[in-house]
Amino acid sequence: MQDSILLTGGTGFIGSHTAVALAQAGYSFVILDNLSNSSSKVLDRLARLNASPLAFVNADVRDAQTLDKLFGEYKFSGVIHFAGLKAVGESVAQPLRYFDNNVNGTLQLLQAMQRAAVQKIVFSSSATVYGDPASVPIQESAPLTSTNPYGRSKLLCEDILRELFQADANWQIALLRYFNPVGAHISGLLGEAPNGVPNNLMPYVTQVASGQREFLQIFGNDYDTPDGTGVRDYLHVMDLAQGHVAALRALNAPKLLTVNLGTGQGVSVKQLVDAFARVNGVPIAHRYVARRAGDIAQCFADPTKAQELLNWKAQLGLDRMCADAWRWQSMNPQGFDTPL
Ligand code: NAD
Ligand code: WQD
Repeated sequence: MQDSILLTGGTGFIGSHTAVALAQAGYSFVILDNLSNSSSKVLDRLARLNASPLAFVNADVRDAQTLDKLFGEYKFSGVIHFAGLKAVGESVAQPLRYFDNNVNGTLQLLQAMQRAAVQKIVFSSSATVYGDPASVPIQESAPLTSTNPYGRSKLLCEDILRELFQADANWQIALLRYFNPVGAHISGLLGEAPNGVPNNLMPYVTQVASGQREFLQIFGNDYDTPDGTGVRDYLHVMDLAQGHVAALRALNAPKLLTVNLGTGQGVSVKQLVDAFARVNGVPIAHRYVARRAGDIAQCFADPTKAQELLNWKAQLGLDRMCADAWRWQSMNPQGFDTPL
């Protein structure tokens, strides 16, 4: 049996791009996803990109029997655990669903890994574990907190993984705290396809550009930031995907790594909108409205540790993020249902 990687949530936005990066780096992998927030048509796109999984398993990560069967069939050298629900507003309305899916899902996975003696995991954490940071750029040693059930679910999973490592230091664990992933694969074959009204900025901007939505609401222009709009660390999803390959490589011995994946550059909403319009030659109609509840003024990474520990650094700038996001949107007006 050949060593391979299990990708939970591998048909999702970040997982599918990571599949391409893994294939390019010579890894084979199996995808497990319950398709609760993705399409099986992603698999056709992965095939076009020479990044087909060894197998696709349509199952829930909380399904212990399926996990045991899968760990019996394949000799996994590690797991990258993307499967999770990620909509902050929805998590406030449905906390139990979020805790069950994200925390129980992670527990079930770790227990199955323990039964199969697979002890390498790369976990999708988030900059949300820093809450409203006291200062930027944010270092990994900053205090951790949560402001909503989604964020709490990520923090709880981190706590579980830290306790597990305390109990058994043979584990190889990477907690990757992503900042704001945007953009798409350069081919236009993979990208972000949110259901319904997008919660996040970039998919909203691309839908305004395509005429699907009339205008962007910019949530607040009275923040204590250079132009008054919120500042974030937007990161190209292919750079983020490479970060997972780098994390697998760095987990070459028992250790627990906790690493920010961001560019280190703070970009305001207005700067992103202006860059998108300039790079793509498409104006983005927008109106300033009240702040969105729960939003913070600024959030960007200190990415020093990623460079030191993973030998990883973001390569792609804001212009590429905007160009790739727009290529994906223009080529796929019906998302993954657009015929190839
Ligand atoms: P996504 O929704 O596109 O991908 C998640 C995938 O997991 C989906 O394909 C979904 O169908 C699957 N899934 C969800 N629950 C599952 C379950 N119980 N069993 C099996 N499959 C399940 O989201 P994404 O943007 O690719 O995010 C991937 C991970 O990264 C998530 O854990 C998310 O919380 C985390 N993250 C995302 C961001 C972001 O801004 N996109 C930022 C930080 C962290
Ligand atoms: C970015 C900026 C908004 C939409 C969220 C989660 C976080 C993480 C990533 C997973 C903010 C502004 C947005 C719009 C706007 N996910 N905005 N109009 O809020 O930084 O992070 O996604 O872990 O946990 O909270 O990302 O893309 O929603 O917002 O003005 O229609 O764009 O106010 O300043 P955010 P975002």
